[in-house]
Amino acid sequence: MTTPAPDLLHLRAAGVSLVLDCAGPLLPRVLHWGADLGDVAVAELEALRLASIPQIAGATVDLPVPLSVVPEQSVGWLGTPGVTGHRHGASFSTAFRLSGAVTLGAGEHPGSQRVSVRATDDDAALALVLDLELTASGLVRTRVALTSTAGADVPEFMLSSLDLSLPVPTEADEILDFTGRWIRERTAQRKPFTFGTHLREVRKGRGHDATLIVAAGRAGFGYRSGEVWGVHVAWSGNSRILAEKIQGGARHLAAGELLLAGEIILAAGQTYTSPWVFGSYGDGLDDMSARFHTYLRARPQHPSVANGRPERPVLINVWEAVYFDHRLDKLVALADEAAAIGVERYVLDDGWFRHRRDDHAGLGDWFVDEVVWPDGLSPLIDHVRGLGMQFGLWFEPEMINPDSDLARAHPEWILATGNRLPPEARFQQVLDLGHEGAYNYVLERIDAILTEYPIDYIKWDHNRDLIDAGHSPTGQAGVHNQAAALYRLIDEIRARHPRVEIESCSGGGGRADLGILDRTDRIWASDCIDALERQSIEAGTGLLVPPEMMGSHIGSPHCHTTGRRHDLSFRAGTAFFSHLGIEWDLTSASEADKAELAGWIALHKAHRGLLHTGTVVRADHPEPTTWVHGVVATDAAEAIFAVVQLSSGPNQGPGRVRLPGLDPTRQYRVQAIDPADAMGNRTGADRLQWWDDGVQLSGRTLDRVGVQAPMQNPEHLVLLHLVAVATARDA
Ligand code: GLA
Repeated sequence: MTTPAPDLLHLRAAGVSLVLDCAGPLLPRVLHWGADLGDVAVAELEALRLASIPQIAGATVDLPVPLSVVPEQSVGWLGTPGVTGHRHGASFSTAFRLSGAVTLGAGEHPGSQRVSVRATDDDAALALVLDLELTASGLVRTRVALTSTAGADVPEFMLSSLDLSLPVPTEADEILDFTGRWIRERTAQRKPFTFGTHLREVRKGRGHDATLIVAAGRAGFGYRSGEVWGVHVAWSGNSRILAEKIQGGARHLAAGELLLAGEIILAAGQTYTSPWVFGSYGDGLDDMSARFHTYLRARPQHPSVANGRPERPVLINVWEAVYFDHRLDKLVALADEAAAIGVERYVLDDGWFRHRRDDHAGLGDWFVDEVVWPDGLSPLIDHVRGLGMQFGLWFEPEMINPDSDLARAHPEWILATGNRLPPEARFQQVLDLGHEGAYNYVLERIDAILTEYPIDYIKWDHNRDLIDAGHSPTGQAGVHNQAAALYRLIDEIRARHPRVEIESCSGGGGRADLGILDRTDRIWASDCIDALERQSIEAGTGLLVPPEMMGSHIGSPHCHTTGRRHDLSFRAGTAFFSHLGIEWDLTSASEADKAELAGWIALHKAHRGLLHTGTVVRADHPEPTTWVHGVVATDAAEAIFAVVQLSSGPNQGPGRVRLPGLDPTRQYRVQAIDPADAMGNRTGADRLQWWDDGVQLSGRTLDRVGVQAPMQNPEHLVLLHLVAVATARDA
């Protein structure tokens, strides 16, 4: 229900307080976003408002300068403004005033609270609706719908930027964000929160270097402690996040869609709606991250047993086994091998459609290739399904090879600017979904294939950047429309084929955000399956994406993208936590490897109920060569941890490792899970004394003291299984 709200609002959820000053006439101000303040009286909120008014500084405006959710220069704010744009040069600076009552009601998701605010700027002839929600898991999310209210005789409003701003306190004096590249996504970087603007942009429609989160926190904040505030943009086009500290010391995190010049032009009565900008506060990164995971898991479409979906099926993807070399006998043999070791879903990757013998041609020609597949896909699909596995198929719907029947028939359907084409990337261009004909063609083709064949899963790929991406014939920038059309396309396919799961891939992890995750079931975190690289790629991706939505595969002994070799236990133990897959030519694997792999798959199946619903925990082990991470059941009755030796160091092993996140009052039986006996090289007196029989300790002791972890060679790991011991108290 929506009701008029008092002018001071205190929203609380899951340990987070959001205090908003909605008294107007200016846009709402966040007085506090952070730790729960408890059940405070109105008088206290009023005192907080008074105590929050900044002092008038010398050599600046003669007013206290407020920082609103949409900051404005017209009130003296001299950082990045929330809305920029103009009407043929005029109306470049906004001055919004509240219009109508501020309302408070339920948000979109169960348990969330929404504040809605209307405001107008009569001079600029703009109106906005600002929505601000606190979700049940304690996430703040906010968006703006901006409308031009000018008459047709006034120039259109050319919107340049619309960023939503969340203030962070002085304590947030260190910034963490991520960068990377293809096969090395999500590399963390930290720096002090100094004066100026730290700006992270996506201006190519996706990015292996894109940061999923920009966080600011107390210097040295870790996974388990240190206040931290993080911001994310739920949008699969261009976006930006900035961390800004201005003269005087005010600092904020602001974010929105990155708009290209002239991309959004608002004619009379037209509205631009920004993506949702999410903010997550935590005492430590685990807390910040858990709010995203809990939010995703509470959605009705989340791929969970709680929503009536099966457990995440273990899959095989044939890409690194066969690449473009599609031969029925080989693919059938792979299916046989996969089914024999417990695989539940078989995914045929790139190479099945017309002209696609390598990556130079064929994208857009979404017809089963008559030469390679003379009897269609049925012989393979029937075989796969006969083995009891589901079948998945690769598409790259938003792309087109100039060497394709589609491009020859419709060269005007390529995103391009002026009379030139963008430079090719992987020999391909982007199909302009802003053309109704192109959109309908792709929709019809995917629909036809999904209708003809019993397909359970799409791997939806997107393998190039959007560069110079204009819409023809107007020449207007087309990235915004492309992202919006992509969402419509996926939504339409899901409506027509509700049973089909979708994986979002973009040359690995080039597109991972809450916009795409709202309409897909998992992301492919990276084209790099090297377990060592994956440790950090998944740590970074996992801040946003819960394990069950993150595809993680066990590759062949020799990693194709890095050339490293790893034992199966390291490869499997790394992929074990997420949505598990195999990407390895099993027809060339040894019997011993296949037997061990079957053991790992069985182990994963035995524990995936815990792994895919529990709370992700990362210990702040002080030795950088050792990482400790795990998953603790939501009732804290069980947990699995990995102790990962990334590289060698001067220490004799990691020493005692602490296992956080457990119930401090309960006793736990700690037992190594060691399918391949990774400790096999220490079988004598040098074997850890507690290893074989396990040990029983309280959650408090495990958190504060820990257990001696084994010495391991670099690029090895061990798994520990913890089960709470029933005590008299439990009975
Ligand atoms: C991208 C994907 C890979 C594979 C290839 C196929 O690189 O990320 O997993 O599907 O395309 O061309």
